[in-house]
Amino acid sequence: MAIPKKNQLVGLDVGSHSIKLAEIDHSKRGPILKSFGVVGLPPDAIVEGSIKEMGIVASAIKNLYKNLEVKNRKVATSISGYSVIVKKIDLPPKQDADLEATIQEKAEQYIPFDINDVNLDYDLLTPETTPEGGGEAAGETKEVMLVAAKKDMVDEYVSLLQLAGLSPMVLDVDAFALQNAFEMNSPEQQGCYALVNIGAEELGINAVKSGVSMFTRDSSYGGAQITEAIMKELKVGFEEAERIKLGGIKVEKEKAILEEIFTSVVSSWAQEIKRALDFLATTYPDETIERIFLSGGSCRIPGFQKYLEVETGIPVELFNPFSNLIVNEKRFDAKYLSYMAPQAAVAVGLALRSIGDK
Ligand SMILES: Nc1ncnc2c1ncn2[C@@H]1O[C@H](COP(=O)(O)OP(=O)(O)OP(=O)(O)O)[C@@H](O)[C@H]1O
Ligand SMILES: [Mg+2]
Repeated sequence: MAIPKKNQLVGLDVGSHSIKLAEIDHSKRGPILKSFGVVGLPPDAIVEGSIKEMGIVASAIKNLYKNLEVKNRKVATSISGYSVIVKKIDLPPKQDADLEATIQEKAEQYIPFDINDVNLDYDLLTPETTPEGGGEAAGETKEVMLVAAKKDMVDEYVSLLQLAGLSPMVLDVDAFALQNAFEMNSPEQQGCYALVNIGAEELGINAVKSGVSMFTRDSSYGGAQITEAIMKELKVGFEEAERIKLGGIKVEKEKAILEEIFTSVVSSWAQEIKRALDFLATTYPDETIERIFLSGGSCRIPGFQKYLEVETGIPVELFNPFSNLIVNEKRFDAKYLSYMAPQAAVAVGLALRSIGDK
């Protein structure tokens, strides 16, 4: 894939727990990892995708840029959560003349917000003409992927990046960035599979069939549930609770409480994933999800992968977005990259975007 250098973008995944940056160069040998880094955020800087502390988040981005010595200021970023609606809709045939108007009208039925408060985008999933050039078959419905994002959310992210001295060029959705990263790494993956990203405050599910998303869902679950429960039960602050969670501080006395917290939160995630799978089974009775690929910082919880496999009866793998990238081992610590891999998935997908690639 030859992308002119001037069209390349830096992928910036602004999460509620941490910001991930990835930069990819394209060469004849394939995509090369040029930069990667993560910076943590204080707990209340971003809440459920909404930026509460603009200044703090912007300085965190600036620091990340400085530390990684990234020069390219044009970025691709993404949003997710309840302010973004992703929906596949069918349009009646023969709407070519008035596609925009029809989509706008349809959107009003599916979007639970005032249509004037959202930015609307769509992607035509059904090819407009057959390869023979015969045009679409008469009576064929068109599938359209509709994406609506609340304007104030979009404005917030644009302002944030501008405050950090950057130019936002592409605004993607977490689910699609993840799918992009996945397709680059596993172009041979066939059939139906689910990409599940578990971050700090969001659990995102994207079920994909032959490269096309069938269904996406974001719910308010994530690692912060565990951190908050530890803070409450063990009466400690955020930093300490995070360290206890990651095993950096050993607790003997409260071991049972800790296990109880982990078990109850993790089982709520498995239930949420199962609910989505059940919904899929009802909506697409002919399709079977053959595999689940996990990403996001919270999928590292020891034993979660196996647990989800038992709960769903579907093989579960961790997704490594670096596996198909050329990595210079002198520049990157292999151990660090392999630890960070699941958390880097969205940022890598964003870094694959370029100006005018749609
Ligand atoms: N080894 C680990 N074990 C358990 N939890 C972990 C581990 N490593 C990271 N986490 C948790 O993963 C979460 C961060 O993951 P990630 O960076 O994917 O989230 P985010 O993108 O910042 O958040 P979101 O997208 O949900 O707003 C935190 O809750 C963190 O505590
Ligand atoms: Mg995230």
